[in-house]
Amino acid sequence: APAPLIDPFARAITYLRVSVTDRCDFRCVYCMSENMNFLPKKELLTLEELDAMSTAFVRLGVRKLRITGGEPLVRKGIMTYFQAMSRHLDSGALDELTLTTNGSQLERFAADLAACGVRRVNISLDTLDEAKFARVTRWGRLPQVLRGIDAAQQAGLRVKINTVALKGFNEDELFALQAWCAERDMDLTFIEVMPMGDLGNEDRIGQYWSLTDLQARLAERFTVTELAERSGGPARYVRLEETGQKLGFITPLTHNFCESCNRVRLTCTGELYMCLGQEDMADLRAPLRARPDDAAHLEQAIRAAIRLKPKGHDFDYSRQEVAGQMTRHMSHTGG
Ligand code: GTP
Ligand code: 5AD
Ligand code: SF4
Repeated sequence: APAPLIDPFARAITYLRVSVTDRCDFRCVYCMSENMNFLPKKELLTLEELDAMSTAFVRLGVRKLRITGGEPLVRKGIMTYFQAMSRHLDSGALDELTLTTNGSQLERFAADLAACGVRRVNISLDTLDEAKFARVTRWGRLPQVLRGIDAAQQAGLRVKINTVALKGFNEDELFALQAWCAERDMDLTFIEVMPMGDLGNEDRIGQYWSLTDLQARLAERFTVTELAERSGGPARYVRLEETGQKLGFITPLTHNFCESCNRVRLTCTGELYMCLGQEDMADLRAPLRARPDDAAHLEQAIRAAIRLKPKGHDFDYSRQEVAGQMTRHMSHTGG
């Protein structure tokens, strides 16, 4: 087998996030501006090229593939790609094929995803209130997402809910969300909002709700036990002893987890971003298109890119100002 991908800080790269489209049927206020300019179709990697890229990473030791976007399930023909990736599960080369989705299309796709070997999905949901949901997504419909979540569970997929912690928005729903997930046997992960994308009218500091705060609130009602386990992602986990429920915390602002970073991100145009919070990237589309049948050529380009992986992000609000802001939108690198 080829040598594994090791970055300059001795971190093994075993997790690839693949953003298959920059488009989304929602416009979450912390993620996109109202009027987004989406990429023309000819810029996108074809499904075959996405396969070739992903397969190259699997050959180089990637064990976990997470499909993201934009909203991955709005990409036309995406099931063909999932189907293709399932061969890496069958061969034992991959441990996990999964996706992060807003849930809007899951009613349609949950069963197909399960058939492709997907075992769990992360679904973004910031509120259980229909009006607030419409506000935060700008026009999303909550019932459609709830039906998607049901469909995922019906199809036997394990569901993890991702909630971006937003001051003055979902603070009052902490226990409602927690109880709702517990009832349905779903894991729940909270995410600190990151300064991604120039959105025009956002108040980054104003909307920031630290998970240190959130966890302290939880501790007022529950016995919170820290767990040692990791899922191969950035989340830390705790268990609420009273419900047995597992909660995750993704804390780029309050507890930087870059030291154990194991991932890189491929965009839908074939750029490889080495960090969510840095500009370092390499174009992999050019080498692939120049020599589509030369796997070694692409591998070399990937190895060269990994040498650019920075130590970590610079996101920081601690001085009451926004540091580390990225102009790139979250939907470009897939979260
Ligand atoms: P699990 O496999 O369930 O652990 O998933 P995951 O947390 O790796 O993936 P998911 O797409 O659910 O990630 C949730 C969010 O965590 C992402 O959308 C990002 O906002 C954030 N996140 C994931 N990886 C990183 C990272 O390397 N750096 C930073 N700053 N944030 C990250
Ligand atoms: N900060 C933190 N999380 C974000 N997401 C989108 N934009 C941001 C941001 N600026 C989340 C979504 C979804 C995941 C893919 O990333 O809500 O759960
Ligand atoms: Fe779409 Fe997810 Fe961004 Fe919301 S956070 S606009 S659902 S990609």
